Order: sequence, then structure tokens, then C-alpha cells
Amino acid sequence: MSRDVLLVTGAAGFIGSTLCERLLHDGFRVRAIDCFTDYYDTAIKRRNLAEARKHDRFEFVDGDLAEVDVRALLEDVHCCFHLAAQAGVRASWGRDFEIYIRCNIEATQKLLEAARELQLPRLVYSSSSSVYGNARQMPMSESAKPSPVSPYGVTKLSAEQLCDLYHYNYALSCVSLRYFTVYGPRQRPDMAFHKFIRAGLEGRPIEIYGDGTQTRDFTYIDDAVEANVAAMRYEKPHGVFNVGGGANVTLRHVIAVIESALGHELQASFQSKALGDVDHTHADTRLAAEELGFRAGIRVEEGIPREVAWVSELYGF
Ligand SMILES: NC(=O)c1ccc[n+]([C@@H]2O[C@H](COP(=O)([O-])OP(=O)(O)OC[C@H]3O[C@@H](n4cnc5c(N)ncnc54)[C@H](O)[C@@H]3O)[C@@H](O)[C@H]2O)c1
Repeated sequence: MSRDVLLVTGAAGFIGSTLCERLLHDGFRVRAIDCFTDYYDTAIKRRNLAEARKHDRFEFVDGDLAEVDVRALLEDVHCCFHLAAQAGVRASWGRDFEIYIRCNIEATQKLLEAARELQLPRLVYSSSSSVYGNARQMPMSESAKPSPVSPYGVTKLSAEQLCDLYHYNYALSCVSLRYFTVYGPRQRPDMAFHKFIRAGLEGRPIEIYGDGTQTRDFTYIDDAVEANVAAMRYEKPHGVFNVGGGANVTLRHVIAVIESALGHELQASFQSKALGDVDHTHADTRLAAEELGFRAGIRVEEGIPREVAWVSELYGF
């Protein structure tokens, strides 16, 4: 059987659509699935997919991973990049939690079952720095005990641990990537940079949860995509790696960079810290560098202006 297809789940999303384009550019055949959940405007997701759809090596399945025939989806697949998930920390409290269970845990278990039956050569799971919660030690290392502080983080950790289980029990080859806040063109509208830039363009004040001194490790989209390619090529059968931008910056610094790219100041209104948000994230990137050869290359000073250009075009400024 020739396994020359790469499968991308969550392909209409921010990271998935960018990954599809990179893989097509590299000459691969790509099969992709997304069910266009309405967590944010589906017109943005359709727009994300437009470039990939022009390719004759691109095949798209409009379907829900929890419902489709996953065995058929995995046919001839060499590597599956599993990005489909219900994202977002704040919306994961309350009634919507069942969506998180279904999309993040149940869909992953279904994928893993089919992957083990078909002996899929490699699964790359998109995990999250949210599995750490408020870590006691900085930088956050893969060996630290995970302790998520949001329901979203709990579901991302559960799915990651399911991947580990299928590796240890069925020798399924799984690599998990714990992304630290990804930004850049196509960033989701619920994410802070996107909201700040849009508000700045529309002349509205931005809302900051906390006092702006919280620090984050921000990862540029092309770096997150590069980490996926490195994970596909990783020669060992299992691994869990941080994918961070390599710099720890305050929200106040980010705002200054956005202001510089917009060419004017932003008005800020400070709100109390949101439940489930962590105070600081900082990736220990040594393991990913040593094992995957992955090092982030784009700093916020370079990446934010690219997101400003994309958000401006999206909303017609
Ligand atoms: N963006 C970040 O900063 C970040 C950080 C850490 C982890 N992640 C993870 O990376 C992945 C991609 O995130 P993103 O920011 O691109 O999110 P996104 O919401 O833009 O993309 C996820 C896509 O998955 C699709 N999807 C959800 N459930 C599905 C299902 N059951 N079947 C088929 N498609 C389904 C959605 O329609 C969406 O298009 C997610 O797994 C997320 O948890 C993202």
C-alpha cells in the first residue's frame, strides 16, 4: 500500500489551513477535514481554505470527525496532523463544555482507534500550553506535572494522554506539540491580538484582562507549522514537545508593537482577570531544539505587523 497522503484535521482553522498550504507547497498530497463549527464566523474559515482548494493535490472532506468513517479518511495516509478541536479557554466553562468533550476528547479517541487498526505510521497531535496551568517553575518544561486551570486545558490534556496510551499499548507513533499562544495571519477572532488590532482599526477601546503585566510566550504561525513538519519527520516513535516563540513578552509590550504597526495609540480599558487564564507562560524550548531540531525564528516585532496587515484586509481597512 502506498501511503503518500497527509491528513489534516481542523483544516479550515487558523493553524490547519496554514499547515495545508505549507504541505502542498512542499509537494505532498493532502486530505483535509473540517466541519466548520460556528465558534467563529465560518466565512473566515472558508476564506482560509480558498488557496489550498485551488490545488489538484488537495482533497477536502466537509464532515465532523466524531461522525465520519475515520478508516476511510485514513486510507493511504502516512501522517495525520490532528488539529480539529474546540478551541478557546473562556468559553469552556458551563454548558458548552459538552462541545469540548465531543470535539477534543471523543473525536480524538475515534481517530486513535482507526489509526491503531490501520497502523498509521505517524500522528502529530496539536496540544496546548494550557495543559500546564499556573506552573510553579519557569520556563515550563515538558517534565513538569500538568495541572490545567481551565476545562479547555483539561480536554487538551486528556486527548494528549490518550495519544500516549495508544502509543504505549498499541505502539502507535504519536508526537504531541504543546503550542504556546500562536499568532499571525488567520489568527482566530476570539484571540487577543486579533481583537486588539480590530478594535484599533475601528477606533474602539481594547479590553485587557488583568493589568497587562502578564507575560506570554507567543509563537508565530509559520513557526508552529514548521514544528509540525519537524514532528512528521521525527525518527523516534513518541514525544511531547513545547512549541514556543522563544521569547517571553508582556502584554503591554505587545500592545506597544501593535500601536507602532497601526501608527496610533490604543485606548485600553482594564477588566478583572478572566477565569481559566494563566498569569504567565514561558516555554522551555530545549527539548524541541535537541530532538526535533525546531527553533522559532520570528519575533513579535516581525510577526505582529503581518497580522495587522491581514486583519486590516479581512475587515476592509
Ligand atoms: N491558536 C493557538 O494559539 C493554539 C494554542 C494551543 C493549542 N492550539 C490547538 O491547535 C489546534 C488548532 O487551533 P486553531 O487556533 O487553528 O483553532 P481553529 O478553531 O481556528 O481551528 C480548529 C478547526 O477545527 C474544526 N473542528 C472542530 N471540531 C471538529 C470536528 N469534530 N470535526 C471536524 N472539524 C472540527 C473547526 O471547525 C475549526 O476550523 C487546536 O487543536 C487547538 O486546541 C491552538
